[in-house]
Amino acid sequence: MQNFLVDSLIRKLWITESDVYRDHLLRLDRDSRHSRFGGGVSDEFIRDYVGATYRLNAVVHGFFVNGELRGAAELRPLGPALTREAEAALSIETPWQSHGVGSELLDRTLLAARNRGIKKLHMACLANNRRMQELARKFTAELSFDFGSVVGEVAAARPTPLSVLREIVADGHGFATAVLDVQSRMFRAA
Ligand SMILES: CC(C)(COP(=O)(O)OP(=O)(O)OC[C@H]1O[C@@H](n2cnc3c(N)ncnc32)[C@H](O)[C@@H]1OP(=O)(O)O)[C@@H](O)C(=O)NCCC(=O)NCCS
Repeated sequence: MQNFLVDSLIRKLWITESDVYRDHLLRLDRDSRHSRFGGGVSDEFIRDYVGATYRLNAVVHGFFVNGELRGAAELRPLGPALTREAEAALSIETPWQSHGVGSELLDRTLLAARNRGIKKLHMACLANNRRMQELARKFTAELSFDFGSVVGEVAAARPTPLSVLREIVADGHGFATAVLDVQSRMFRAA
């Protein structure tokens, strides 16, 4: 059993946790940072970026291992509220990549987008980012996209009582539901 499985959970970040998010993004290695931001960016850029994330009321889901944020998915509103567009971006630190964490985080993000009436979801994804493209492909029922930059139409854009309930349940029981699934996938991958 891998030690990092102990005490892992997926939950939304609190408004007070901007430092936690910033430190996670600063820890990304060079390639992951490049993929996450669509190019090389400085530490200063990341600090400013996280400031904007919190000013814009973004929803950030985090993947925590032993209390440390190791992965995140950000849903950031774009333009005026009426346009109902948002940007989604994922970041998983290298040792935790390819264990199903990105899939769980994108699932949570799509649910949050749906419950906020988002109709169009932009994912800044470099054309050579195969893993992100594979990940997006798994959600073709909810997203249509073209490569280069992934622009997804969230299929069922209107929230339903069930989709709202799913988000509430995920918030309350994230550890018991999504993470157990992540862990079982991790066991298979180990
Ligand atoms: C891209 C990223 C978010 C994917 O998250 P992840 O947790 O590594 O991905 P998952 O394990 O959920 O895998 C998703 C799918 O990608 C594919 N995949 C996984 N590992 C792969 C690899 N090494 N090479 C190619 N495809 C791969 C698989 O199809 C997988 O689905 P499956 O396990 O059901 O077969 C993550 O790797 C990451 O943060 N990378 C750096 C930053 C980045 O690229 N962000 C995206 C910009 S928005």
